[in-house]
Amino acid sequence: QRNSVKVSMAVVRRLPKYHRYLGELIEKDILRISSKELGKIMGLTASQIRQDLNCFGGFGQQGYGYNVVELYKEIGHILGLDKEYKCVIIGAGNLGQAITNYEGFRREGFKLMAMFDINPRLIGNTIRDIKISDISELEEYVVDNDIVIGIICVPKENSQEIADTLVKANVRAIWNFSPSDVKVPEDVVIENVAINESLYTLTYLINEDNLDI
Ligand code: NAI
Repeated sequence: QRNSVKVSMAVVRRLPKYHRYLGELIEKDILRISSKELGKIMGLTASQIRQDLNCFGGFGQQGYGYNVVELYKEIGHILGLDKEYKCVIIGAGNLGQAITNYEGFRREGFKLMAMFDINPRLIGNTIRDIKISDISELEEYVVDNDIVIGIICVPKENSQEIADTLVKANVRAIWNFSPSDVKVPEDVVIENVAINESLYTLTYLINEDNLDI
């Protein structure tokens, strides 16, 4: 994980949430909001909101609230959502196909270019116009097409090997869905998406009352 992040990761991890809530406010035609009101709907304090946004120079005027559209756009820009990212998916099984079928990513500028797999029955097929190629072609494809993000959807036993290939081919980032923390050099950013951990938090909460604590 990079250790040169300028803003704390806790703030960075809240930004997508700001973006979503502000988007919802725009849909409801709410065009101005105070830090207090925004805090209320997001479950944060007004001062935390002001502190978070001050990391980026601060927005809004004292006593006047935030311009929702402006803040939404600015946070979108800070999140880099106003750019296009060329992506590939490795592992065209259940999860790889589900991500490919999800319209939301396309709308948001994530341009899925290709999928790769090791299974001869999948290679050559297309999912939503995205071709599944042989894994042996991954490295060359990523280099030739300036792929920025590699999305790993293979079993955990194979994820490190795939990550190594992606790093060698100069991706900037890896979105890893396999339940293992793959290692990458410092100049490559990685997000390990642990869906199970979120589910286990849920089962903990279901059972907490019965625990002897
Ligand atoms: P799957 O078995 O349906 O798909 C995995 C695909 O990876 C297969 O098509 C297989 O041929 C391919 N593959 C295996 N080794 C490969 C290699 N070396 N190079 C290229 N392709 C290779 O499995 P599923 O359900 O899609 O899960 C994929 C990964 O995502 C697993 O690590 C799983 O634990 C994780 N995951 C899956 C979730 C789900 O909802 N399906 C949720 C969270 C994580």
